[in-house]
Amino acid sequence: MNRIKEHPILDFEERADIPFTFNGVEYIGKEGDTIAGALIANGIKYFRITRKLKEKRGLFCGIGQCSDCSVILNGIPNIKSCITKLEANQKIETQGEGE
Ligand code: FES
Repeated sequence: MNRIKEHPILDFEERADIPFTFNGVEYIGKEGDTIAGALIANGIKYFRITRKLKEKRGLFCGIGQCSDCSVILNGIPNIKSCITKLEANQKIETQGEGE
């Protein structure tokens, strides 16, 4: 897991594990994560494939303005993962892969 655990001036409280799946694979996020944060912490950088050029996209603006981080969440497309909180047992999928 790619998560900062020690820092010279910041403290990190232990948070509860939250299970979820991404493209059918089970992962663990932490309570309070956004979906994008949980994906990146698990080493996943690309969440979407562009429709026309089939290019990979992931976290870009991180504030809900660009839609590069869009995923399919529980069957609903166009969910901005950078501003959507992770919840237990969410089924998250790459957007644009089958188009
Ligand atoms: S990274 Fe830009 S909307 Fe999420």
